[in-house]
Amino acid sequence: MILRDYDESDGPATLEVFRRAIRRTAARDYTPEQVAAWASDDIDPDGWAARRRSARTRVAEVDGRVAGFTDVDERGYVDMLFVDPAVARRGVATALLGWATATAQELGATELSTHASLTARPFFEAHGFVVVVEQQPVLRGVALTNFVMRRALEPVGG
Ligand SMILES: CC(C)(COP(=O)(O)OP(=O)(O)OC[C@H]1O[C@@H](n2cnc3c(N)ncnc32)[C@H](O)[C@@H]1OP(=O)(O)O)[C@@H](O)C(=O)NCCC(=O)NCCS
Repeated sequence: MILRDYDESDGPATLEVFRRAIRRTAARDYTPEQVAAWASDDIDPDGWAARRRSARTRVAEVDGRVAGFTDVDERGYVDMLFVDPAVARRGVATALLGWATATAQELGATELSTHASLTARPFFEAHGFVVVVEQQPVLRGVALTNFVMRRALEPVGG
């Protein structure tokens, strides 16, 4: 596995990983209606690519293919973390979160935070995050349970 910065050409592959991760992995925890709303067929590929480009997106490649991606901002907020089900439970998300942690620390963030799905909650708990509050955001008319989760960051060098 290698980690690298998001490239202009990664739009379609990251959107495919996003949809596969929801339709196969997260489908264990959400209804078909919720899955259809979240991994919608209506996501505009150009808008998707623009959002990934403007976020600080990092891509994981396994055997030369995009296998996962994440991002982090200067406040330590992790918006996206998705891994292809074909490489689940092989440490891809752990490696991506390691990058997000180091990057947030370099940017001066004092905590990491995310809005974790039911599916991702055990992953984030295994990495020291705690649930702050459960939410029911509505996406394309459908409510989807998620959790605001946080973890304190040690200062760089500390
Ligand atoms: C959550 C997700 C990113 C984890 O990716 P992954 O590469 O499979 O995770 P890792 O292999 O790095 O997992 C590391 C550890 O996290 C924990 N973990 C990960 N997935 C878990 C699960 N489904 N249930 C319980 N623990 C889990 C385990 O402790 C695991 O270690 P182990 O495999 O040795 O037991 C992936 O399952 C995914 O894309 N899910 C669907 C989309 C989603 O919900 N994304 C998050 C949106 S907020």
